[in-house]
Amino acid sequence: MVSSIGINNMLIGVMIISSLVATCSANFNQDFDLTWGDHRAKIFNGGQLLSLSLDKTSGSGFQSKKEYLFGRIDMQLKLVAGNSAGTVTAYYLSSQGPTHDEIDFEFLGNVSGDPYILHTNVFSQGKGNREQQFYLWFDPTKNFHTYSIIWKPQHIIFLVDNTPIGIFKNAESIGIPFPKNQPMRIYSSLWNADDWATRGGLVKTDWSKAPFTAYYREFQSY
Ligand SMILES: *[C@@H]1O[C@H](CO)[C@@H](O)[C@H](O)[C@H]1NC(C)=O
Repeated sequence: MVSSIGINNMLIGVMIISSLVATCSANFNQDFDLTWGDHRAKIFNGGQLLSLSLDKTSGSGFQSKKEYLFGRIDMQLKLVAGNSAGTVTAYYLSSQGPTHDEIDFEFLGNVSGDPYILHTNVFSQGKGNREQQFYLWFDPTKNFHTYSIIWKPQHIIFLVDNTPIGIFKNAESIGIPFPKNQPMRIYSSLWNADDWATRGGLVKTDWSKAPFTAYYREFQSY
């Protein structure tokens, strides 16, 4: 008797867990809209995978259907492989309007074998200049890696594969604006920025390698 009750409880437990997983698991068709670039933005594998691409005519982008005010967002990205010099992949939260807030990841491509630069930035009420830049400790084009933003009233934390790489504390007490009143959507885009992106604009996009493609999966918000 005791063991069969135990098994029933376990089964109920498993059912509860699997229904939770089902409601949390990302579906790009449900959560995002492809906003520009026509066929260059694609959702496939039944909503499990999204790709953006860039060619000489256009880049592409998507945005979340929902707006967020605080929380944590996770996304796995696999960046443009090979010679990605001149390309920029941006993944960010932003509100609308002239005094918008923004929390950014920007990935600056490079020639094959040379490292991407990851920029992070926070804008509050239209003002940025809290930019930081990093070299990643892995090749972000070989596999998917998780890029997360934790946005709380007290601070914003950028994480790569769960490792915090940057923190912006709320310093309103000393007069520095902090994003906390305007809900934001999630955006991503892939575009040509060869006037500034790679070695400050010295290395241009090699269009013979186009289209350039970045992949997204496993979006989660908490
Ligand atoms: C590209 O590689 C060069 C040489 O290693 C490096 O100086 C630069 O910071 C790298 N990244 C970008 C985006 O320019």
